[in-house]
Amino acid sequence: MVNLRFLTAALLSVTVSKRIAIVGMGAGGISALKALLALPEEMREGWEIVAFEQREEVGGLWLPQMDAPSPPEIPETPLYPDLRTNGPHPLMTIPHFPFPPETPLLAPHDAVLRYHQDTVSRFGLARYIRLQHVVLCAAWVGNSTVGHWNLLVEEHRRATTSSLRFDHLIAAPGVNRTPRYPDFDGRVEWLVTGKTIIHCIYFRDPRAFSGRNVVVVGGGPSGWDMVRQIVGHARTIYWSRDTKEENPLSPGWPSVPGVLDKPRISSLAGGIVTFKDGSSLSCVDTLLLATGYDLRIPFLTSGGVLAEVDGPQPADELTTNGRYVHPLYEHTLSLDPTHPLGTLYFVGLILYNPTGMCDYAQGLFAAYTIADPRLLAPRDELYASLKARERQILAEGFDPAHYGHKVGYGYGPTSGHGANGSFEDLLVDYLRARGLTGRPGIPMEGMNYTEPWRVESWGHGLDLLFAWNAGEEREGARAWNMRWTRGRRTEADYAALMREVSEWWDGEKARGGETPVEEA
Ligand SMILES: Cc1cc2nc3c(=O)[nH]c(=O)nc-3n(C[C@H](O)[C@H](O)[C@H](O)COP(=O)(O)OP(=O)(O)OC[C@H]3O[C@@H](n4cnc5c(N)ncnc54)[C@H](O)[C@@H]3O)c2cc1C
Ligand SMILES: NC(=O)c1ccc[n+]([C@@H]2O[C@H](COP(=O)([O-])OP(=O)(O)OC[C@H]3O[C@@H](n4cnc5c(N)ncnc54)[C@H](OP(=O)(O)O)[C@@H]3O)[C@@H](O)[C@H]2O)c1
Ligand SMILES: *[C@@H]1O[C@H](CO)[C@@H](O)[C@H](O)[C@H]1NC(C)=O
Ligand SMILES: *[C@@H]1O[C@H](CO)[C@@H](O)[C@H](O)[C@H]1NC(C)=O
Ligand SMILES: *[C@@H]1O[C@H](CO)[C@@H](O)[C@H](O)[C@H]1NC(C)=O
Repeated sequence: MVNLRFLTAALLSVTVSKRIAIVGMGAGGISALKALLALPEEMREGWEIVAFEQREEVGGLWLPQMDAPSPPEIPETPLYPDLRTNGPHPLMTIPHFPFPPETPLLAPHDAVLRYHQDTVSRFGLARYIRLQHVVLCAAWVGNSTVGHWNLLVEEHRRATTSSLRFDHLIAAPGVNRTPRYPDFDGRVEWLVTGKTIIHCIYFRDPRAFSGRNVVVVGGGPSGWDMVRQIVGHARTIYWSRDTKEENPLSPGWPSVPGVLDKPRISSLAGGIVTFKDGSSLSCVDTLLLATGYDLRIPFLTSGGVLAEVDGPQPADELTTNGRYVHPLYEHTLSLDPTHPLGTLYFVGLILYNPTGMCDYAQGLFAAYTIADPRLLAPRDELYASLKARERQILAEGFDPAHYGHKVGYGYGPTSGHGANGSFEDLLVDYLRARGLTGRPGIPMEGMNYTEPWRVESWGHGLDLLFAWNAGEEREGARAWNMRWTRGRRTEADYAALMREVSEWWDGEKARGGETPVEEA
């Protein structure tokens, strides 16, 4: 006699089975994978999860590639030997998994790589990860209600290409991959005279700038770092960037001694750099571009999923204008009606955010809504919420298409840890509002996803960066780091450390020992 119970169970497990692909194993993909596996086992029964990473190791941009290729080939990472975090490492972590004891507050790049590797080993993620597998193309085969993702995947080691089927796709390919080249007037003339334009993604060794007259272009975190990297090597350095009045989105870094501030470049004609204020420089031989990155996701574009557009973005079709992927619910869920809601997610598109907490919240959102699609409100409702957020951004004087996925630094209506809570809390609150309070990853009633110590120190993030730099300069990096991090182990230890350093810095500022820093 046929065992009916067995048959039913087998059929059920087939029908509940989901195939989920994650693309990219940097901070974003690792967080998403961990969040999927954090679900109670009964919620992810029969799931097949595969995480693809094209490089030889996990870690994303924190995995070095010491020799950058020459243009037009694009390096796999902008990492340079002296790179370290530009904020306290406790603010980069996923919940309850801190960096190792006594890690310097501004962590060297290899400590961040190790953190990602440790996350993978601590939470048993390795068996889901396929290294040296590049996703060449992802296409949706089906219509607005049924179908599957077809991934064309190339395995480097065996030089084989296969076509694989998945039900859900989580894209975490990183946003710092395609250098942004401004369209300078007179650029060709500049190059013809033998002068150089190089994007900071190629930067490795400051000695390459010895004796040169350099304009560093762009006032973001890369600009600030590039200027400080080459000071003492280049002969002269100019820093072309917007003031905070001209561009409220620019971080407004303080001036760097030995570096002359300039406005934006208006022309390079005749091999002469002319600036917007009419001033010009003929001695300059090198432009070091720290102009940011274009938001492109080639494997989605080649699959016909994500169109690249120049002008306005249509309401329904998933597009990127180089800064903004639209339409997405909370920077995470695709609202393109050509595939069913809940089949395509993005993790890590957000700029200027507490990385681990944001990525993990996005991962939790994907995990729970994949497990139970009924958690997703109707598309119209999610779309209306997206438009409401965009209207708020507009009301604050920013163009949403330019503002893009910036969340943090305390500017913008839905950003940072403002009065209405942080982005990552809003995302987790979506799940709480649907009855998931207290489930794995989702805090109990009366608690926020983001712990109070994170909110507090995030508010002092820039001060902590400047304080740490100043302290190291004064006492020597080794002595300074020893003094503050010795014996610090837990999140609570580091929360206390950050509070103490903030207080020390406030004291310095009050004594006038430090020029007060313009807050971003
Ligand atoms: C120079 C620099 C310094 C930074 N410093 C800090 C810092 O101090 N603190 C901080 O919080 N943030 C910092 N950031 C921001 C940083 O982007 C995030 O912290 C985070 O590391 C990004 O992780 P990610 O997973 O989103 O992207 P990535 O780290 O870029 O990882 C994406 C991964 O996806 C893989 N991938 C892409 N496409 C494919 C494909 N088609 N198939 C297979 N694999 C693919 C890539 O190989 C890569 O490994 C920095 C960024 C830059 C550029
Ligand atoms: N750990 C570290 O030390 C470190 C170092 C570098 C970078 N990072 C991280 O890397 C990410 C990317 O930072 P990023 O600085 O490379 O990019 P970014 O934040 O996009 O900054 C680029 C800046 O350049 C400006 N810009 C663009 N074109 C310009 C032009 N022609 N003239 C003058 N200014 C121009 C941009 O202004 P608009 O876009 O408004 O036009 C923007 O302010 C961030 O997450 C950052 O935190 C960290
Ligand atoms: C989508 O395809 C399925 C199967 O081919 C079909 O049954 C369904 O009617 C289609 N739906 C739409 C909206 O076209
Ligand atoms: C923030 O809170 C205020 C007051 O409660 C409310 O009017 C506003 O819409 C909220 N903003 C967001 C983005 O939720
Ligand atoms: C949770 O976050 C909100 C908004 O930032 C804040 O007002 C509240 O005090 C926080 N609650 C706890 C328990 O930390």
